[in-house]
Amino acid sequence: MSEATITVLPGDGVGPEVTAQALKVLRAVEKRYGHTFTVHEGLVGLDAIASEGSAISEATFQTCAQSDALLFGAVGALPAAERRAGGPRPELALFRLRKEFGFFANLRPVRPAEASYAASSLKPECLKGTDMVFVRELSAGLYYGHMETVPGKPSEIRQRDGRTEAVDTLLYTEEEIERVVRVAFDVAAGRRGKVTSVDKANVLSSSVLWRQVVDRVAADHPGVAYEHMLVDACAMRLIRTPAEFDVIVTENLFGDILTDEASMLTGSIGMLPSASLGTRRTAGGLFGLYEPVHGSAPDIAGQDAANPVGAVLSAALLLRHSLGLEREAAAVEKTVEDVIRDGYRSPDIHEEGCTVVGTEEFGRLIVDRLEARP
Ligand code: IPM
Ligand code: MG
Repeated sequence: MSEATITVLPGDGVGPEVTAQALKVLRAVEKRYGHTFTVHEGLVGLDAIASEGSAISEATFQTCAQSDALLFGAVGALPAAERRAGGPRPELALFRLRKEFGFFANLRPVRPAEASYAASSLKPECLKGTDMVFVRELSAGLYYGHMETVPGKPSEIRQRDGRTEAVDTLLYTEEEIERVVRVAFDVAAGRRGKVTSVDKANVLSSSVLWRQVVDRVAADHPGVAYEHMLVDACAMRLIRTPAEFDVIVTENLFGDILTDEASMLTGSIGMLPSASLGTRRTAGGLFGLYEPVHGSAPDIAGQDAANPVGAVLSAALLLRHSLGLEREAAAVEKTVEDVIRDGYRSPDIHEEGCTVVGTEEFGRLIVDRLEARP
């Protein structure tokens, strides 16, 4: 049996609805497999700004620091009128957690279930065999390049020589590239043994350095095949021949964009989970932050219409990477697949002949089957 401390940060919009399902699933795992999870909850995003004055308070940050894993919902969606220049922004909670806990590697698996191929806008024959993992660099690059500022700080728009201008800096050190590329080669070694490194080396200096580092790291992994691919070509191939990819490693902003694109292979961004990892060890693995790839989706918040799969699969990644509970993680993933195979769908992946269920009900179906597993 395992003991672990988990901090849940539901956040904004649909965040609380989907993390509630993920937590239900973790509680079911706890009961079914005889573990003890101590769960704390903290405010992040808009509620934290309203009641504690910043997107994440010092107290919440300390609670996180003392945990084995963080289960995160979503932040954002401040109405434009309230986005005052220089005012606190909900996304800062995420940027602070990523940066200060050193979560430099963001794993985003994309594996469309055969039963829901019809939910994708791609033809089923294109999707066949698609099973890839993105390793997105998460704590450097354009999001953090400007040393004296923080990401998303709107005051960066400035006046110079009578013009209005803004600047963002794409900066990578060799170390920042090397550590994330090593993660990608390690992940590939445990899978089909192929890394695609994505860059824009025909234009960007940081990409030229990125390629050099990849070539060097690859030399330490003779058993893993690798290739370099330009980001524009990758964007095309992802929807032309997605099954060719195994592990894709890329810098922060390219990874942000390509993973939204890749989510459409599953039919909905609501399906994708993620794990953000650094180097701090826990009893069972690595300290990490787990969140669905989707955002706060304010247009459907509070309607029991959000897809909880991304959040529930994020909980599975939490079990695997931070708690070392592989059997339990695989059981959650299999159960989600079973529920989909049996024809249940959230509205975003609805197709003819299937039963549309709400967020709560989808969560309950997963929990019931998990508890009934032999
Ligand atoms: C993601 C999100 C975030 C990002 C937003 C909410 C700032 O899009 O995790 O992909 O850009 O990193
Ligand atoms: Mg994104």
